[in-house]
Amino acid sequence: MRDFAGRVAVVTGAASGIGLGLATRFAQEGMRVVLADVEELALDKACAGLRERGFEVLGVPTDVSQAESVEQLAERTLAHYGGVHILCNNAGVGGGFSKVWEASLKDWEWVLGVNLWGVIHGVRTFVPIMLSQGTVGHIVNTASIAGLVPGTRAYCVTKSGVVALSEALYNNLAQSNAPIGVSVLCPGLINTRIMYAFRNRPARLLNVPGVQVTERELARAERVGNMASELGLAPDALAGVVVEAIRSDAFYILTHNHFDDTIRTRADDILQRRKPRPYRSEIDIETPPAQ
Ligand code: NAI
Repeated sequence: MRDFAGRVAVVTGAASGIGLGLATRFAQEGMRVVLADVEELALDKACAGLRERGFEVLGVPTDVSQAESVEQLAERTLAHYGGVHILCNNAGVGGGFSKVWEASLKDWEWVLGVNLWGVIHGVRTFVPIMLSQGTVGHIVNTASIAGLVPGTRAYCVTKSGVVALSEALYNNLAQSNAPIGVSVLCPGLINTRIMYAFRNRPARLLNVPGVQVTERELARAERVGNMASELGLAPDALAGVVVEAIRSDAFYILTHNHFDDTIRTRADDILQRRKPRPYRSEIDIETPPAQ
């Protein structure tokens, strides 16, 4: 898809970080933009900020982990703008740092619900609408570099799932000769608030009622947060990369080439029938809580 002006973009997780960067960039390209997010105050603020700049946007409170909520997002989009051309299934949460056998069922349910079911609901709801329009379109699913390197926690499981889902979607659409492109966004570190994702964890999925985050997890989140603000790519810059990828119909969007060797080694290990190399990202290093 090369021409954006006048068309409609839907972005989930659009109240902050990468989603807000994408929504802003699409608006700058002359699109009408639907911002969807579960964090209503942040969503209102994001929409108000964009409207003040003269952009045409609609905010729709949405919980992507719930099929009905995503269906309502589609209904509101169609009622307001009459169609959809770009869909960014972007909402996501970090889901904590536990080892896979230590992550509770509620940890798994939360991170799978938002990161993987959220994309499944987006695809199941919006692709039939986009196909029925018969117009060009593009879908961007936000995975992560964590979906391409050997995994270390539940988050990586969800992101590998998003990569696989995107590849399946691409194959299915290509076999249907549909004029809809697909990209899977696999960013490295971006300067956002993902490490504070516990702010949106639903009460029913808390491990301890009323406790959003433990001291230990908070210390780790703060260390990763400092790392992201020091070293992370700005969401606006990332949005520019995504827009170019949509225009050039690129499938894999990789933002940081310093993971290339790890991806290559992983592919070699598979082909050589070797065990995975021990892998630990900076994010996986434990941080002792402040005394
Ligand atoms: P962020 O925390 O700034 O933004 C995520 C947005 O998703 C928030 O506005 C949040 O309210 C929303 N959200 C959370 N649960 C939701 C739900 N159930 N329904 C709807 N919206 C929900 O974080 P960021 O980094 O912008 O995250 C966006 C995507 O980028 C995520 O899928 C994340 O996994 C991915 N990503 C982020 C990287 C980074 O370094 N920041 C690196 C690789 C991938």
